[in-house]
Amino acid sequence: MIDDIRAARDAALAQIDGADSLESVTTLDTQLLGRKGPLAKLKTRLGGLATVDEKKAAGQAVNEAVQAVTAALEARTDELRDAALVAQVEAERLDLTEHLGKPRRGHAHLVTQAWERLEDVFIGLGFQIAEGPEVETDWHNFEALNMAEGHPARGEFDTLFVDYAPEGESPGRTVLRTHTSPVQIRTMLEQEPPIYIVAPGRVFRRDTPDATHMPVFHQIEGLVVDRSITMADLAGTIDAFTKAFFGRGFSSRLRPSYFPFTEPSAEFDIQSPDGTWMELGGCGMVHPNVLTAGGLDPEEWSGFAFGFGIDRMAKERHQVGDLRDMYVNDIRFLEQF
Ligand code: PHE
Repeated sequence: MIDDIRAARDAALAQIDGADSLESVTTLDTQLLGRKGPLAKLKTRLGGLATVDEKKAAGQAVNEAVQAVTAALEARTDELRDAALVAQVEAERLDLTEHLGKPRRGHAHLVTQAWERLEDVFIGLGFQIAEGPEVETDWHNFEALNMAEGHPARGEFDTLFVDYAPEGESPGRTVLRTHTSPVQIRTMLEQEPPIYIVAPGRVFRRDTPDATHMPVFHQIEGLVVDRSITMADLAGTIDAFTKAFFGRGFSSRLRPSYFPFTEPSAEFDIQSPDGTWMELGGCGMVHPNVLTAGGLDPEEWSGFAFGFGIDRMAKERHQVGDLRDMYVNDIRFLEQF
């Protein structure tokens, strides 16, 4: 009898071991432990045993067999459940590197495009690129550029002041640069002539945005300092630039004007092949006081400088009606360029 019980238990355990799905384990559960199962059948034979001791021993063996089979069913269920979970996670894994169709490529903003083309053209003409900080000292932005305190030209700049005073400085002397001209001073103080640089960058003025003004905009500054530089070199450079940047059919002209940091000063305009003129920027011969502030002897060195708005150029080149459109970042607008 005990041997029969052990045999039934071992057969049941082998079946459980071989079960390869949760459904087959459930089926086995009823088959093996149900009322018509092998162990239940053995239990019915207990009553026919001769002695109490035999009954006791056989009864215990059956109970142990039922426990072993129950434990084996539970263990196998756990195993199969884990395997099913792993398989599901495996099957449902998301491949995040997958994409549908071609990715959409962006491109540089039209002001960046103009900025980079300007650099290319000036590098082609033999210039180097220079840089300066956007937060500037009053001295670099104004004073060294021949605009001492109280100079009326300062009023035209609508300066934004920064609430910061470096050690030993009184407050109100740090500004967001109103133009790229302070880079002239920084370059002269940093490197020996001959100097042939352009300095593109961001500038700031306290302006309410409208179709032609933004409080944050971009300029490109030019500075040449060498021996015997004349106004003719300035005019020739502006014209070479105009043709290289806009095309052969374009030409340029200088009109007398005034800037504190150049003498004589001029505005320069460019003419498109259809005859229309467009004002581009300011220029002139570097003022002797500016050369002196830059640590150079005006008797030995002379130079010219120019500066103009990059945004304005991009606006004209792409026939954009309103400067503000360039900065609202509407993809439908930006996509066109
Ligand atoms: N800095 C001047 C401006 O912002 C432009 C300029 C630059 C004029 C260099 C002359 C020489 O208006």
